Amino acid sequence: SDAKKLLALPGDGIGPEVMREVLKIVHWLGQARDLHLEITEELVGGASLAVHGVPIRDEVISLAKEADAVLFGSVGDPAWAHVDFDKRPEVAILRLRQELELFANLRPAKVFDALVDASTLKPDVVRGLDIMIVRETVGGVYFGQPRGIETLPDGTKRGVNTEVYTTPEIERVARVAFELARVQDNRVCSVEKCNVMESGLLWKQVVTDLHAREYSDVQLSHMLADNCAMQLVRNPRQFDVIVTGNLFGDILSDLASMLTGSLGMLPSATLGTVQAAGKRHALYEPIHGSAPDIAGKNLANPLAQILSFAMLLRYSFNREEDAALIEKAVSNVLDSGLRTADIAAPGFTPVGTEAMGAAVLQEMKNLVQ
Ligand code: NAD
Ligand code: IPM
Ligand code: MN
Repeated sequence: SDAKKLLALPGDGIGPEVMREVLKIVHWLGQARDLHLEITEELVGGASLAVHGVPIRDEVISLAKEADAVLFGSVGDPAWAHVDFDKRPEVAILRLRQELELFANLRPAKVFDALVDASTLKPDVVRGLDIMIVRETVGGVYFGQPRGIETLPDGTKRGVNTEVYTTPEIERVARVAFELARVQDNRVCSVEKCNVMESGLLWKQVVTDLHAREYSDVQLSHMLADNCAMQLVRNPRQFDVIVTGNLFGDILSDLASMLTGSLGMLPSATLGTVQAAGKRHALYEPIHGSAPDIAGKNLANPLAQILSFAMLLRYSFNREEDAALIEKAVSNVLDSGLRTADIAAPGFTPVGTEAMGAAVLQEMKNLVQ
């Protein structure tokens, strides 16, 4: 059949709760909008450890490679906090990124008009914000060798991680950033710490050279990562597309999420290399984690997961209209005043995960009538 293959990996904590709301939307799109998906659901993270003894099975990696797109929830469970590093739930997402070569993580931070007051920053600072952080996700200090914890002869321990970037690794992620800038506001800010790190110096040189060779129509600037963190809070709208390495991108995107009101609002897409027949592996996930502090209580904001699915429809399934329908429904629901706890004003009675998901689906139905 010509049904697209979607691999759904809910994971741990709030992952399954927010994924459930997306699957209701998928079901309706199948009935009402002719979107035919062949959905496979698998365990990852602590949920997989509990049943299979590993954070992700090789079989699930294979399914991810065969799928047209992967929709990921979140992994991480305090119950597994003390096991060996290679057995932790987080290995599931790290292996998926690495084995599918998902090197470019697109993390848009967009402020919905209705939420300008939900940010901890002043409304005038965040109103209209629409930036994109492009985070490299298969290199840098997350994967560099050597790594590990070793015991020295005198009994002292030494924990080691190594920041490594090569020319092609920098070039391919910078290319994604420049291409995105061309359809955004045509500006890229490249972020590293070239003042202390050779990998950062190389990063800056490679981005500068690529820009001169192929993207001189795009405005390029450079910023040190510590300054960038400060500038994101001081005046976030000075940015358009930010491109940076794995660790800085992780930190700066959590920071950027609070500009939008909540970590529970930010979706992401992680794209792999283009393969034969123009096919490209891609995984979609909220930037938040499993939120153990609120898991199982119907408190989580499902919008980051729902908006991640909208990105999936847009980038992997060429369904712009359905993606826009979801985003419009989310925007209208927020305009109507409905809030989960993370984005509710003090004194306002919030709704739960299910009610927020149901409201988005109902609004989608209203919009197509
Ligand atoms: P977290 O993102 O899970 O939570 C941080 C804070 O934000 C918590 O107070 C949480 O309640 C809140 N929050 C997060 N998502 C929310 C949502 N949708 N609605 C409302 N509130 C939300 O980060 P953490 O607590 O540092 O990490 C918990 C676990 O998640 C760890 O095991 C970590 O490794 C893992 N993690 C996984 C991913 C992933 O799967 N990609 C991402 C980040 C963290
Ligand atoms: C994220 C998470 C992951 C990361 C963890 C869970 C490995 O924080 O997706 O942002 O650090 O990349
Ligand atoms: Mn993170």
